[in-house]
Amino acid sequence: MANKNIALITGVTGQDGSYLSEFLLKKGYDVHGTIRRSSVDFRERIAHLEGLPNFHLHYVDMSDSMSIIQVLRKVRPTEIYNLAAQSHVQVSFDSPEYTADVDAVGVLRILEGVRQCGLEDTCRIYQASTSELYGKVEEVPQNENTPFHPYSPYAVAKLYGFWIVKEYREAYNMYCCSGILFNHESERRGETFVTRKISLAAARIKQGKQEKLYLGNLSSLRDWGYAKDYVECMWLILQQEKPEDFVIATGVQHSVRDFCYYAFKRVGIELEFTGEGIDEKGIDKATGRVLIEVSKDFYRPTDVVNLWGDPTKARAKLGWNPNTTGFQELVNLMVDHDMAKVAGEGAAEKVRMNLAEFLEKGIVK
Ligand code: NAP
Ligand code: GDD
Repeated sequence: MANKNIALITGVTGQDGSYLSEFLLKKGYDVHGTIRRSSVDFRERIAHLEGLPNFHLHYVDMSDSMSIIQVLRKVRPTEIYNLAAQSHVQVSFDSPEYTADVDAVGVLRILEGVRQCGLEDTCRIYQASTSELYGKVEEVPQNENTPFHPYSPYAVAKLYGFWIVKEYREAYNMYCCSGILFNHESERRGETFVTRKISLAAARIKQGKQEKLYLGNLSSLRDWGYAKDYVECMWLILQQEKPEDFVIATGVQHSVRDFCYYAFKRVGIELEFTGEGIDEKGIDKATGRVLIEVSKDFYRPTDVVNLWGDPTKARAKLGWNPNTTGFQELVNLMVDHDMAKVAGEGAAEKVRMNLAEFLEKGIVK
């Protein structure tokens, strides 16, 4: 069909890829997602979409230009959403070279692949950029004109991605742009990101399946939104007449400590925090039991501690409402989901949970 919208989503198995697929399928797109080859089944987030006539999967690794070019030639997308990335900030300290290859050079591979396949005039490209670019922040709140100060190997790699997109836009007049998205969470968030770690722990502690939660910097501040709301912006950004970059955020800031407080409140536990820094503890007010402790294991070599986005431009130009899902509603959604998940967990999940704990302490912090 001549005018059919054909979307290619890299990183379709991720949190955002799964919500974006649902969103675009509802809009009538043909959705092509890229997955990595793996010896285990990791497609839990998109299992419900597999088998739909307009949903297709292809193998691509962002470190492999040939796999990218092959899929571009075959699919000839009208829109690309480049979401694939090593997206964990702490992991980028442990695997900096890999992170640079995938998160920085991977973006170049997509842009150059589009040119080499002769798609530069017919295909629009969205790049998943990040508030981590502001890093050691130079102003609060942050908007499209705030200077960047990346503060992790992940952020430095993503900064390359941001600038190479801008370069291809200016050098070759391509329609490519970046969404500078602040943290967005959901029931599908990876289990080693702080919000999901907390929502799962609140559920497990409530149900007697976990003793304590160990965290790093409780004072870190984030502008947390709901991933399901944010994927709409990715699409809106590509529907503008001219390609432009946008900050996507709620404009509301909370600490990790706040997230803990509301998550535990949702399961009926009122927390009281005492002490400071490494000695801080979250105590169950009713019983005096210590439920949260701080562990140095979860501190980062450099940490971004004050992210707060200004969504004025997105509101004005995209007509997007940044406050569709409020902070407490988001916490409740995640905790309610995890209460049900944990209630259904059997012996196999328990083994998996222990492995996740090991990964947190040993590799993924
Ligand atoms: P996510 O859940 O970690 O998903 C990342 C996706 O990238 C997964 O599908 C993963 O595949 C894929 N991927 C990783 N390495 C790859 C490689 N070498 N080749 C091909 N695919 C690879 O991340 P997300 O939260 O959905 O975020 C989506 C994008 O937005 C990422 O680029 C992230 O950096 C960026 N971002 C996220 C946020 C946020 O708060 N969520 C904010 C700003 C920007 P597997 O399933 O095989 O691992
Ligand atoms: N993961 C984790 N685990 N973070 C913790 C912990 C812990 O036990 N304790 C405190 N934190 C703090 C981190 O130090 C950080 O300041 C904050 O909680 C948020 O950490 P994450 O949830 O891991 O997310 P992030 O902000 O580093 O990165 C996410 O958001 C970025 C956008 O700002 C990722 O999704 C990135 O891909 C994304 O670009």
